[in-house]
Amino acid sequence: MKAKITLAKEFKIGEIDKRVYGSFVEHLGRAVYGGIYEPGHATADEDGFRGDVIELVNELNVPIVRYPGGNFVSGYNWEDGVGDVSKRLKRLDLAWGTTEPNTFGTNEFMKWCRKAGTDCMMAVNLGTRGPDEARNLVEYMNHKGNSKYSDMRISHGYKDPWDVKLWCLGNEMDGAWQMCAKTATEYGRIAHEASKMMKWTDDRIETVLCGSSSRASLTFGDWEAQSLEIAYDSIDYVSLHQYYDNKTDDTSSFLAKTLELEEFIYTVICVCDYIKAKKRSNKTINLSFDEWNVWYHSNNKPFDRWSMAPHILEDIYNFEDALLIGSMLITILRHCDRIKIACLAQLVNVIAPIFTETGGGVFKQTIYYPFYHLSNYGRGVALNPIVNCEKYDCKEFTDVPYVESIATYDEEKEQLALFAVNKSQDECQELSLKLLDFDGFEPVKFISMDGYDCKTENYFDKEIVNPHENPINKIDKEDMVFELKPFSWNVIIFQKNS
Ligand code: AHR
Repeated sequence: MKAKITLAKEFKIGEIDKRVYGSFVEHLGRAVYGGIYEPGHATADEDGFRGDVIELVNELNVPIVRYPGGNFVSGYNWEDGVGDVSKRLKRLDLAWGTTEPNTFGTNEFMKWCRKAGTDCMMAVNLGTRGPDEARNLVEYMNHKGNSKYSDMRISHGYKDPWDVKLWCLGNEMDGAWQMCAKTATEYGRIAHEASKMMKWTDDRIETVLCGSSSRASLTFGDWEAQSLEIAYDSIDYVSLHQYYDNKTDDTSSFLAKTLELEEFIYTVICVCDYIKAKKRSNKTINLSFDEWNVWYHSNNKPFDRWSMAPHILEDIYNFEDALLIGSMLITILRHCDRIKIACLAQLVNVIAPIFTETGGGVFKQTIYYPFYHLSNYGRGVALNPIVNCEKYDCKEFTDVPYVESIATYDEEKEQLALFAVNKSQDECQELSLKLLDFDGFEPVKFISMDGYDCKTENYFDKEIVNPHENPINKIDKEDMVFELKPFSWNVIIFQKNS
């Protein structure tokens, strides 16, 4: 098959906010215990943080991590996880039916963030609790001293405030599975009051209103409109959550899910702008896509109720998942003018790119790589490539372009990057690339992942799926042709010659 991509600096979508390469750590399964935190592990430091995990988080270049949930946060009393560890009590976590030991809490997480070189996106409990506990947490985290909660932090050994800038107003409050789920108007009121009080406590913070728990939610659209109608003036972002699966084993439809994702994002932008117009407001609400991934491999796996850190949601990802993850992140970047935050859910063990053995090693899942490439090379501004390629029909969609692509341009580094997925399972794409400007830019690296059966997985000491570099033939700028192998992930880097 033949495909053509045309690119120019003028095809700019917007600046890429580095927070779109965020991730998520919830008190869930082995995300914290046995994941980022495992005292006594061979690589653990004096705080019990696993060094092997921090190394991979650094490599992934994750600028922000959402914490502590997720469903967990809707029943979490943050006070249970601060102060003298020996005095902290275990609690039942009703979200996941496990026991939370509370030996790791907010301050431990903040310390971990500092060591992992990342920022925290903190979620407050607006399920079982409300605005008062939320503003107390802001005071505890961000106020300098000489008040009840800031002095409490100091007495816990943390003199300097943590200065957390980004706060989620609860989690998936529309979902029946959520502790103290709410109607859109109930939630809108609580979120609005919480956000006001949190900002009165620290006026430098930004807040995220919960959107629907997914596009499939029956109240999707109305939920956003009704809660925004109430909270518009006090919040900064609306959240989106979306997970995909291939339970029907229909790979063509699975890889086409980005068409649905595109529409989902577009609809949320429209709802935000509809409320903006209705309110005659000058303020634009942007999007926080704070949970996205593939999730289904681990569904219905039994575990012992009320156990601590059980093996739950431990999806082992395959090659087709990696291609969808690359395509999803490309779709998110296509909206980087409005999506300012996105969190791959989650970071370690629980539906995650990094997988550990408690007491043992670590490996990179297949989905690690597209995220790694985009996070490391996809900085600066996003450019919307004009893609001409063939399309296919499948059970769930029609007119699916075989090639999904985005380009990024980092002016400071004089680097242009093109990311492309070839969704054809049996045909190459002979891709001719036309750069309308970018004088003096030459391809210096052509990385791809291809040649694997779509169900190939990685595992400990068996990292089969990983990227390789292709030779770059001498190509003149007028006639650049790259071969995208069938069913492949591709990254082409151009550098300005000096
Ligand atoms: O990421 C796993 C769970 O998915 C989160 O706890 C919840 O917010 C979502 O339903």
